[in-house]
Formats: sequence, structure tokens, C-alpha cells
Amino acid sequence: MTENKTFELSNGRGGGSQLPVRSGTMGPAAIDIAGLHKDLEVFTYDPGFGATAATESRITYIDGDAGVLLYRGYPIEQLAQKSSFMEVAYLLLLGELPSQKQLEEFSGNIRYHTMINESLLRFFNAFNHNAHPMAMVSGVVASMAAFYHETMDIHNPRHREIFSHRIIAKIPTIAAAAHKHSLGQPFIYPLNKLGYAENVLNMLFAVPCEEYQVDPIAAKALDLLFVLHADHEQNASTSTVRLAGSTGANPYAAISAGVSALWGPAHGGANEAVLAMLEQIGTVENIPQYLAMAKDKSSHFRLMGFGHRVYKNFDPRATIIREMCHKVLAQLGRSDNPLLELALRLEEIALKDEYFIARKLYPNVDFYSGVIYSAIGIPRSMFTVMFAIARTVGWVAHWQEMISDPAMRIGRPRQLYTGATKREYIQVDMR
Ligand code: SDX
Repeated sequence: MTENKTFELSNGRGGGSQLPVRSGTMGPAAIDIAGLHKDLEVFTYDPGFGATAATESRITYIDGDAGVLLYRGYPIEQLAQKSSFMEVAYLLLLGELPSQKQLEEFSGNIRYHTMINESLLRFFNAFNHNAHPMAMVSGVVASMAAFYHETMDIHNPRHREIFSHRIIAKIPTIAAAAHKHSLGQPFIYPLNKLGYAENVLNMLFAVPCEEYQVDPIAAKALDLLFVLHADHEQNASTSTVRLAGSTGANPYAAISAGVSALWGPAHGGANEAVLAMLEQIGTVENIPQYLAMAKDKSSHFRLMGFGHRVYKNFDPRATIIREMCHKVLAQLGRSDNPLLELALRLEEIALKDEYFIARKLYPNVDFYSGVIYSAIGIPRSMFTVMFAIARTVGWVAHWQEMISDPAMRIGRPRQLYTGATKREYIQVDMR
């Protein structure tokens, strides 16, 4: 980051402030407002942080108007086509594409941490069988702090590295255990001979009483979905991980907070909500009435999987997933997927509608992903858990970037107070 000019601000009463302007390598410059309160006794006001850079970061770059997404400078389209989730995980965590040897070593480190403590597995028996898997995953991830405290010195780089491998390796095992618990089926242990996405599918769908062969098409589709969901700059769940981590809380607690934030339907929970919405709409004939509801402020209905805080153009991930749908469904022999047909028609109609055009509402990453998850047999309740598996890499990369920054400070936003002014206490018999 370079500081190359200043931004003059005056309060109109003779007071002023010289605010440094900091430029990055790409994207908008940022006015450093740290001195504003000291000089002019004012705060900036930006609910939802739509125009606030909370940090400097070198991990992911998004240009929302151009529909650009880069992981450490590499376009998501190229990574989707040529890379793998393990390679993208290495890139996001360490900043460069690995050599073959580095990739094998990294993948090996992940592979050898996939099992979880047997006591952690017993936690699942305490959950109701119909508990939402995200509730189980966030609870068990937080509980990891009770098992791995000997490597939780956040200022020790080796501890941070072990944490990174452990959580990336174990989140699929925890996710699959949540699914098996909800089915009342025995847990399936990870198999070190399988790749990352293959292991997820095997732990989700294998049963002890018969051989299970992971479908390579499904494994490749899931690996690509993991690549596309791995990171996305300072989104709500990543910002949650950063804020929780900034207090010095153990990293498992920070990741668990990220899982909880991702669960919301305005964020990662949207993929599950899209499928529910498509099933609710049911037929193409019903689309106009649901679009009308989406435009009617008095109805709380929103077109799930549409719109984005940053993308005011196509979400590049949605474009890739939409193309992937056709290919994967054809390979799986499910081309005549009614949900996909409905989703495509809904997109086509919505994108011609003035309301959506005026607000630059396009399909986002969650609009089509559920069609593929469903096609490879993953139940709707597990869609956001799949998102969490992938996003754990981004959360860890951002946590590492923050914790290893010597200038890191606890996050503590301020407010515009509009409540009661100071007043005296009134005895209850006088009220
Ligand atoms: C993810 O941040 C990230 O990077 C997130 C993510 C990641 O990878 O981490 O990309 C993943 O969370 C994708 C988003 C998934 N969520 C959804 O699909 C839920 C549906 N979408 C919305 O709720 C909404 O679009 C948000 C939450 C995604 C964005 O909300 P904003 O930026 O606060 O936008 P807004 O609510 O201010 O909307 C602006 C206008 C409003 O209308 P007006 O008040 O101007 O008349 O657009 C309307 C909104 O009512 N609008 C929608 C809409 N989304 C916005 N109207 C109908 N349907 C929608 N989906």
C-alpha cells in the first residue's frame, strides 16, 4: 500500500483534517480516516460497510462492476478450468501456485489430519437427529479448542500452520458426521487414499455394509464448486472471522463464528434457500407472481440467489456454475433436470425485468450451485455446509494474514448515537 496524496476535509467552522489517501495495486484508493475523529471529532457513517475498507489484504480481488474475481491475482475462470481445490488452497494460504512437490507435501499434510478425536465424534450423539447440520458443524468446530489447545499459540507460526492443516482437513469429516448423524447412520472415516472432494463424497454416502465407489464426475464437480467458493474478499463471514480473531480468541472459535455467519440466508444460506424457492415456484407459469412478490416491499420475499453487495454485473462464479450445470447433468444422465430448466427461465425473465435491471441484480454464486449439489446427491440441508467446507480455506487465509500482521489491532467499530440523552433515574412509585 502506498500513501501518495492527501484528502482535505473541513468542518466549515475553521477546523480541518488532512487525510492520507492510500492506494493499492488494483481497485479504488482508500482515504485513511484514522485522524478524522481526533481532528474534527466526527465519525464516518457506513452501515453495512458498503464503502469501507476494513483492512488491507493481498488475498482476493473483486471488481464488482466488471464481474472480475482474482485469487492472488489469478482469474477465477482460469483456476476453475485448470486448477484443483488443494492447489487453490495452497495458493490462497501461501500466496503462490505450488510446485508439484509442494502440492504433494501440502495435500499430504491435509490428508494426514482428516480424522477427528473420537470424543468429538461422540458430541454428535448429543444433537437431535433433526438438528440443522450447520448448527452441529459450528458447535463441533468451536469444541475443537477443547482438544487441540497444545497448538493454539496464535503468535507461533508453526502452531498457526498446524491449525490451518487441521481445520481444512477436519471440516469435511465434521460435516459428513453431521449428515450421518441426521440419517442415523454410522460415521464413515476418511480414507487417505482418496482426494479431498472424493473423501467428502465417500464420508457422506458410503455405508459399512457395502462397497461404495465415488463417482469421478461428482468428485470433479464438487472439487470445482470448492474452488469457486474458497474465498471472496471481506464478505460477512470472513469479516466475522477477522473480527473474532482480532480479540486474540483461539482460531477454532473464530472459524466457528464464521460458520455461524455464513449460515444466514442473505449469505451462504442462500444456496439452500434457492432450492426451497425453486420448489415453491414449481412451474414456469408461476414465475411472474413470484417476481411480483420479489418487487413488492411489503412481502418479505426476495429472489434468493439474486443480487450481490459487490457484483453489479454477473457474478463470474455463477456463470461458471451455470455452464457446469449443463455439463455435469449431461454426464450424470440427468439433463432433463426440471429445477435447472426453471432456474434458467427465472434468470431469463428476471434479467429482462426493469426492477432487476435498474438495481443491477444478477444471479450470484448461490443461484445455480444447489442444482449441482442436488444432482450429485447432496441433500438441501447440507448445501451451506458444502459452502463452509470450501470457505474454511478463505477464512484461514484471512485469519493468518491478520494475525501475522504486527500492526493488527482489535476490531472495534463506533456508532452514530440517536438514543435518549442523559436523564435521572425515577423511582418505580414515581413512574
Ligand atoms: C453470498 O459478500 C459476499 O461476497 C458474499 C458471497 C461470498 O462468496 O462470500 O458472494 C456469497 O452471500 C452471495 C449472496 C447470497 N444471498 C442471496 O442470494 C440472498 C438474496 N440477495 C439479497 O438479499 C441481496 O441481494 C444481498 C444480501 C445479497 C445484497 O444486499 P445489499 O447489498 O444490502 O442490497 P440491498 O438489500 O440494499 O438491495 C438493493 C436493492 C433493494 O431495493 P430498493 O430498496 O433499492 O428498492 O435491490 C433489492 C433491494 O430490495 N434487492 C432485491 C434482491 N436483492 C436486492 N430484490 C429482490 N430480490 C433480491 N434478491
